[in-house]
Amino acid sequence: MHRSLVLGCGAYLPERVVTNEELAKTVDTSDEWIVKRTGIRQRHIAADGELTSQLAVNAAQDALTRAGVEASDIDLVIVATSTPDNTFPATATRVQAALGVRQGAAFDVQAVCAGFIYALSVADNMIRLGQATTALVIGAEVFSRILDWEDRGTCILFGDGAGAMVIRGVENGGDNAAPGILSTHIYSDGRYYDMLYVDGGPGSTGTAGFLRMEGKEVFRHAVSRMAEAIETALEHNNLTLPDINWLVPHQANIRIIESIGRRLRLSRDNVVVTVDQQANTSAATIPLALTQAQNDGRLASGDLIALSALGGGFSWGSALLRW
Ligand code: ACO
Repeated sequence: MHRSLVLGCGAYLPERVVTNEELAKTVDTSDEWIVKRTGIRQRHIAADGELTSQLAVNAAQDALTRAGVEASDIDLVIVATSTPDNTFPATATRVQAALGVRQGAAFDVQAVCAGFIYALSVADNMIRLGQATTALVIGAEVFSRILDWEDRGTCILFGDGAGAMVIRGVENGGDNAAPGILSTHIYSDGRYYDMLYVDGGPGSTGTAGFLRMEGKEVFRHAVSRMAEAIETALEHNNLTLPDINWLVPHQANIRIIESIGRRLRLSRDNVVVTVDQQANTSAATIPLALTQAQNDGRLASGDLIALSALGGGFSWGSALLRW
């Protein structure tokens, strides 16, 4: 029986940092309001002409180096993004070419902020079935390009960035104490389409659009669905809440993260938080946060890591990893 082993994670953040104070010069807001309601202090913003694929390639190269894997070993590239370079082809094909990967498949997955969990689920299942051996799973976004910079209710929340993970199939008898991805669970409920969406886009509407959101509804659903998805994953693996060593949640708002942490009875010290420094980078938040935890040495071999996210759709899900 195959299982996916996490070989390494990588990250890339654009050089330019925009603080709350800087934002407050152009929209009617304040550092105090943003920190109190969201925990966000700053975000990275891509340079003019810096595209999602470039962010993704930089994060992927970092992950490949960390993993000690050559591009020639990769036979699957999945990019989770809601801000692709073009309507088609998939941004993943551009990333594949730039990395020098000449085999296998490359495609995008679109599940907004839950995109990385969806992409990881697809890659893990392809590996389990023997359809791929070594995969690059990337979350990459330039949300700065789909924000209405005059809408203080949304523009303060997001940033740009990319994170990547290299996973490889290994033989494993299904022992949940052994390292690897134990399970992924993904869900959507399209009745909530209008709660968080872009009012246009390069697809069938043929118009450019901006992100629109019912913040309170998103907040409420994010807390319950993300926590539930982790509870389901634990039950699926015959594990319990105290088995979790690390929660690496989607980073949208510190109050959402703290509410989930409380519901899962986790100490703040066991929750990886990057939202203060990076804001919400949508599909990139989880691999960015995981890379930070990997690089600062917090994660020990054998640790149980719970990932969870919710985004537009609504789409949400969880993954359990044994480090
Ligand atoms: N600066 C100052 N005042 C603001 C700002 C701002 N940036 N934005 C809104 N306000 C004002 C509003 O106009 C309102 O003023 P009023 O009372 O005079 O009408 C007041 O602040 C309260 O606004 P609310 O929208 O009720 O504020 P709330 O406490 O709900 O916080 C927030 C808004 C931060 C967006 C919150 O709802 C939230 O975080 N929701 C989750 C949304 C999210 O994270 N989305 C990301 C994508 S989905 C995901 O990743 C899970």
